[in-house]
Amino acid sequence: MSGPLPRLYDDLASWWPLLSSPEEYVAEAEFYRRTLTGAAIPVREVLELGSGGGHNATHLKASFEMVLVDLAPAMLKQSRLLNPECEHIHGDMREVRLPRRFDAVFVHDAVSHMLSEEELARVFATAWHHLRPGGLALFCPDHTRETFAPYAAHGGHDRRLRGMRYLEWAHDPDPADTEYRVEMAYILREGEEYRVVQDRLAMGLFPRATWLDLLSAQGFAAAAVPHATASPAEGGGEVFTGLRPVE
Ligand SMILES: C[S@@+](CC[C@H](N)C(=O)[O-])C[C@H]1O[C@@H](n2cnc3c(N)ncnc32)[C@H](O)[C@@H]1O
Repeated sequence: MSGPLPRLYDDLASWWPLLSSPEEYVAEAEFYRRTLTGAAIPVREVLELGSGGGHNATHLKASFEMVLVDLAPAMLKQSRLLNPECEHIHGDMREVRLPRRFDAVFVHDAVSHMLSEEELARVFATAWHHLRPGGLALFCPDHTRETFAPYAAHGGHDRRLRGMRYLEWAHDPDPADTEYRVEMAYILREGEEYRVVQDRLAMGLFPRATWLDLLSAQGFAAAAVPHATASPAEGGGEVFTGLRPVE
């Protein structure tokens, strides 16, 4: 992600649990847990890059010791509330270098914020750097070039004092480049007061072969794995794994 953060990750970050509640992640987190244990070594310590509000981590932390890295201080603050027992680190997945290694690296939908092949390759280098030999990296883009189709979706949740509904409109202004756009409209309720806010997210879109080629170029044994729980609106339902070979 280059330029200013989307408002969702910045001044609106406290609304994240009302846009996408932690309970919604149960089934997919179980799929990620199983996939991560496909490493060639036992998986105990997991680094999550772009951990956001920590909704996957709320489920994965029962099985793994999680270290959570995100670029947005306001999202880290949300995650700390949910996951006080996890270590949180402010960092950029394109360049962060921690002085330790992990059994697995997990990059969920945050990897969709990489807009160029160069950025994607930098994330793969970060994952490689932090993995022990035999460790596994798992990347879960929202879409690939082959499976993306424009869509609109909506959702949101209510709590007693606050509620939110959103409209998400994904479109691809220039199919020749490696980006698509998500226009967001949020209706935010505080007590009986309502306001509407607009936001925009720039997302990366790469052919399946690019994912596999860049992972291989980094040295990973790369694979595409069908996503067990993705809905058709969530694209082709494929995630990518990279095994760091045992030396
Ligand atoms: C959709 S949220 C992730 C939500 C997360 N899957 C969860 O379980 O709550 C995307 C996150 O990616 C983070 N992000 C975007 N670019 C990043 C980068 N270069 N390095 C680290 N985090 C980044 C954003 O700050 C945001 O918190």
